[in-house]
Amino acid sequence: MMRRLAAVLCLLTAAQRGVGRADEPPTPPSSALAKLLADPAVDAKAHAYFDALPARAHELTEKAIAGEVVTGAQHLAAILSLAMPPSVFEAAMEDRCFLCHSDPEVHTGDTLFSPDPAAGGHPKHMDLTKVVQDVHFRRGLSCAGCHGGDPTAAMDHDHPASWPTDSDRRHTDRRWIPEFCSRCHADSAFMRQFNPGMPTDQLAKYRQSQHGIVLAAGDSRAAQCVSCHGVHGIQGAKSPRSSVYPSRVPETCGACHADAKLMAGFKLPDGSPLPTNQLEEYRASVHGKALLERGDLGAPACNDCHGNHAAMPPQVASVAEICRTCHARNGTLFDGSKHKEAFVKHHWPECNVCHGKHSIARTSDAMLAPDPGALCQACHDKYATNNPACKATATYFHAELLGLSASLASFTDRAELVARRGLDADPMHDQLLTLSDSLKQSRSYIHAFDRSEFNQATAPGHASIASLVELEKAAEGDLLYRRVGLAIAVVLIALLMLLLWLKVRRMESGDR
Ligand code: HEC
Ligand code: HEC
Ligand code: HEC
Ligand code: HEC
Ligand code: HEC
Ligand code: HEC
Ligand code: HEC
Ligand code: HEC
Ligand code: HEC
Repeated sequence: MMRRLAAVLCLLTAAQRGVGRADEPPTPPSSALAKLLADPAVDAKAHAYFDALPARAHELTEKAIAGEVVTGAQHLAAILSLAMPPSVFEAAMEDRCFLCHSDPEVHTGDTLFSPDPAAGGHPKHMDLTKVVQDVHFRRGLSCAGCHGGDPTAAMDHDHPASWPTDSDRRHTDRRWIPEFCSRCHADSAFMRQFNPGMPTDQLAKYRQSQHGIVLAAGDSRAAQCVSCHGVHGIQGAKSPRSSVYPSRVPETCGACHADAKLMAGFKLPDGSPLPTNQLEEYRASVHGKALLERGDLGAPACNDCHGNHAAMPPQVASVAEICRTCHARNGTLFDGSKHKEAFVKHHWPECNVCHGKHSIARTSDAMLAPDPGALCQACHDKYATNNPACKATATYFHAELLGLSASLASFTDRAELVARRGLDADPMHDQLLTLSDSLKQSRSYIHAFDRSEFNQATAPGHASIASLVELEKAAEGDLLYRRVGLAIAVVLIALLMLLLWLKVRRMESGDR
């Protein structure tokens, strides 16, 4: 601490001396700059970068060196290695907060931005490479925007009221963070100057969320702004580098929710321990695979179901109703079904009972099977014993779907055969498309849990099966016709050849 203070005092006096020197006409590159650039710490890449910078950037570098804000070759090398765009480099060279806090000769430990924080034992959030990519830094808000103070002064710390000066308390009691960030983000007049389309409701939503409630109650394990967005290196949510970019959300949430030790003690409303399997189950689910393995941004990440700030998404009364925002038809069909009433009565979440919530798997006809352990049968055996229509309907759906899909498979093979024989298979292919579409629709229409509605979806399928039978017959007739035609042609050709042969023989014998 004393050493650090001495270094700062030393720098302060140096900075004052520097002011006088800056008045002299610059003779670039000054011997001081030349000396730093000659140091082996400044590699060829840094030289090339520096040489390509505009004159203004060179001028500002000279000024920073003359002002002794940049004194060491290592410090200069680290800054050049960031390869900032020229305008960002120029802003950085005028920002004393940035320059002092990236100087390894002034800072050690917690307050130094280092190109490799892990190696130097600095906190992870003091990463020099990341801070210059931060959306705030790039928009010119820089250090002083968040931390207060005058970035042009030799050293001026003027922390906002929400910043806890006791660094131990700052790290253990995280209640200050939402206020710290929201003095800008909840101020719509301020935010509008930068981005009129940016919502300013994060704090309000956050406070309603379980995270906000738990934090306010004094438990700092709950997520707050920096747990999800990071500290120095925050990116716009639409950037693939952002920790809240869809494909990165699961790991961001999972950092806590998959950590059983951290989550120990939290309970579900029924008193059982809060599960920590969400990330694992999600990764293996249809949604997780679609998003994380195939990059399908239409598939939900954690926040699509739980809300961006883990407050309930505004369009639903309960997370359990979120599915229908994407699977609208399943929701509508379900609403009109006999299940709706039964599910409300039993307080069963509408989709999760049958599909799960985090471990949603690809569906199959087997779910409808008449086996005692299968989905529909198991529940009806327990809750619908006096209504035989439940099991009968499930069994009917199963048989119908199996029938349609067996026909689809069989006619697909047969159409192939027709095509291989050189006959026109196009009309069959058209019918196969209708059949396949009808099968798909029917699998969806089971959600009406009603025979007649379901039958409307299977009807086009049955019709195309009937057509396929006809088309195949016609194709076979065609084949027979062609074969007979071929046989006749062969016989005629043979006859012709025989006649020719006879004629040739007669001519030959006539010659003799
Ligand atoms: C000349 C060097 C220098 C300049 C310029 C400077 N700082 Fe600092 N800063 C320090 C030192 C040294 C410390 C550590 C002091 C301590 O441990 O109490 C520090 C501490 C901090 C802290 C941590 C405070 C805490 O409570 O632990 C923050 C945040 C900070 N500075 C931000 C800034 C900002 C923003 C600016 C520009 C407005 C700035 N600094 C300018 C040297 C500087
Ligand atoms: C988006 C707002 C924001 C910006 C911009 C920002 N900081 Fe910070 N800074 C924070 C927050 C929040 C913390 C506390 C991190 C924590 O406790 O996890 C912090 C912590 C610090 C610390 C204390 C480190 C510690 O853990 O004790 C220093 C020093 C610091 N910042 C300096 C800077 C400097 C210098 C810049 C500019 C290069 C800067 N900050 C830019 C928000 C910001
Ligand atoms: C000095 C005011 C200020 C403070 C304090 C501040 N921000 Fe920002 N923040 C902004 C501005 C301005 C933008 C850029 C808006 C733009 O250009 O689109 C921004 C952008 C962001 C974005 C990117 C939004 C997007 O998707 O484009 C996130 C995330 C963010 N801030 C989070 C934070 C967090 C977390 C903190 C606290 C550690 C914080 N901010 C503190 C003003 C601030
Ligand atoms: C539980 C994680 C989490 C917490 C806590 C959190 N955010 Fe966010 N934040 C997100 C996600 C996820 C998005 C949206 C990403 C997207 O649009 O796809 C987001 C988006 C944003 C945006 C972009 C604009 C918007 O609303 O979509 C800003 C700004 C922002 N957050 C600031 C904050 C601030 C300030 C806090 C603290 C009060 C905070 N966030 C707390 C996860 C979080
Ligand atoms: C910093 C750690 C942390 C991060 C990161 C985090 N959470 Fe949480 N979350 C918690 C804690 C702690 C609770 C409180 C548990 C409780 O009260 O039951 C919680 C509660 C929740 C709850 C309510 C659970 C319940 O029913 O009680 C949901 C839902 C949730 N988080 C979703 C998310 C999502 C989605 C993300 C990512 C966008 C996320 N969390 C990121 C720590 C975190
Ligand atoms: C497809 C929607 C969906 C996705 C994606 C999703 N969840 Fe959930 N989550 C739910 C539903 C539904 C519940 C049950 C809510 C209820 O019972 O009120 C739930 C419950 C939770 C709970 C409460 C404890 C529990 O397990 O019941 C936590 C914590 C949670 N989710 C975190 C996450 C995290 C972390 C992710 C991402 C890895 C995630 N969720 C992805 C829909 C989803
Ligand atoms: C953000 C939109 C979105 C939300 C919300 C959503 N899903 Fe999905 N879901 C998809 C997409 C996209 C696919 C397709 C993935 C694929 O084909 O690989 C899918 C696939 C499925 C499948 C597999 C379908 C099949 O062909 O086998 C089921 C079942 C499913 N979702 C159920 C649910 C349930 C239950 C919920 C609510 C807990 C839910 N979904 C919430 C977008 C969403
Ligand atoms: C009573 C059990 C049950 C309920 C409730 C239920 N489903 Fe299904 N769902 C199934 C079965 C069984 C299948 C598979 C049908 C097949 O492939 O033969 C299925 C298939 C699906 C499919 C894939 C077929 C398609 O429609 O694209 C999606 C998506 C789906 N369900 C979403 C939902 C959503 C969303 C809800 C809530 C509104 C829901 N399900 C409610 C049993 C159920
Ligand atoms: C979680 C339990 C549960 C599951 C799973 C379930 N059901 Fe039901 N089902 C019920 C209950 C309860 C009723 C209402 C019985 C009553 O009130 O007569 C019902 C009623 C029905 C009815 C209405 C019968 C009538 O009166 O017309 C049909 C059809 C039905 N279920 C089909 C299915 C199919 C198909 C599946 C599998 C995809 C399925 N159910 C899965 C609990 C369930």
